[in-house]
Amino acid sequence: MASSPLKLFELAKSEKRLLYTSAPMVRYSKLAFRQTVHQYGTDLCWTPMVLAKEFNRNHFARDSDFTVSTKGPQPPTIIARASSLVAPYSSGVDLNCGCPQSWACAETLGAALMEQRELVRDMVVEAREYLRRDGWGVGKEQDIDNPKGRSISVKIRVHKDLRKTMDFITTVLGPEHDRHIDFLTIHPRTRSTPSSTPIDVEALEILTSTFGSRVPILVSGDVFTLNTLPFTSPLLPIPTLDTASDSLHQAQAIANLPHLAGLMSARGILANPAVYAGFDACPWEAVDTFLNSAARCPLPFKLLLHHLSEMCAPGMGPNKTALLGRKERSDMMQCANMLDLIDFLDEKCSAQGGMRRDVVGGQR
Ligand SMILES: Cc1cc2nc3c(=O)[nH]c(=O)nc-3n(C[C@H](O)[C@H](O)[C@H](O)COP(=O)(O)O)c2cc1C
Repeated sequence: MASSPLKLFELAKSEKRLLYTSAPMVRYSKLAFRQTVHQYGTDLCWTPMVLAKEFNRNHFARDSDFTVSTKGPQPPTIIARASSLVAPYSSGVDLNCGCPQSWACAETLGAALMEQRELVRDMVVEAREYLRRDGWGVGKEQDIDNPKGRSISVKIRVHKDLRKTMDFITTVLGPEHDRHIDFLTIHPRTRSTPSSTPIDVEALEILTSTFGSRVPILVSGDVFTLNTLPFTSPLLPIPTLDTASDSLHQAQAIANLPHLAGLMSARGILANPAVYAGFDACPWEAVDTFLNSAARCPLPFKLLLHHLSEMCAPGMGPNKTALLGRKERSDMMQCANMLDLIDFLDEKCSAQGGMRRDVVGGQR
């Protein structure tokens, strides 16, 4: 089992840098992708969102005729039970209070939980209690070196009225010296802000300066390259000469976030799994790494193609160089199997003078 998340926060801090994380992404953030981004400097990865109730039911009541409504607020014990089930296989459990999709909100999941701060507090308290009873180390910093240490965290969006977000965090954090969560991820958009609108850096600045000394905070949103973030931090690498001039004119306006502990990337890392290794566009070698992981860890072929189509398209940062053009990507999507695909990519890559090694175990 990997180190506990709080240990990773501590390590990143000791290396005088932010913690680098990969966001939960429904459908996408499966094992092969997580292994790939780990190879390129990502410290901590989220699995795709898991619906606690379904997860419990599949495990305990598979094939059962027993069906219950999923409508209405979920009792805290449901997430607590699911936490107990995933704990042996993950380094922590994160409660998603950010998903804006209507089906999730209708079930009082995701962003709808932003209106239920007491319920969220009860959920994390209950989850901690279940894990404690199961013998896991849930003492936060006290369990930082405990192999059985597990974290309980929350990912949120912000409210239009930031005072509501402050109240939410205050409630969920709980007592000053024995907080209820290990760390917090803030996606500084409201549930109705489209992802094309830049994140609200001012809100992030207020929230990190208010709470960042009590709890490690990650930011989710617009992490596209390390050099073009819409804020600065003493823990970020010094911009390279290329980008320094671009960002110079913004330098005056850009907020400095000394209390931010780490970054979480979704669309950026999907397009460029090597983002935290300092690449500003996806390199062929990351495609290669991903294919090797996918060969070891089964992934539906269509999903594999979707990943590759993201990686081979222009990325989210200012460098719009793409590994494949639009027509080539569409041709790639026609590949019928892994062998076709590898031949196709080999050909494209060598035509560009790129590099591709054999897929695992000399299967080619
Ligand atoms: C394909 C995709 C799937 C996502 N699935 C989830 C999810 O399951 N749970 C969640 O909390 N957020 C999910 N998100 C939201 C991201 O975690 C993240 O908060 C948001 O995309 C903003 O980050 P970005 O600007 O780096 O994309 C998803 C985002 C994308 C692009």
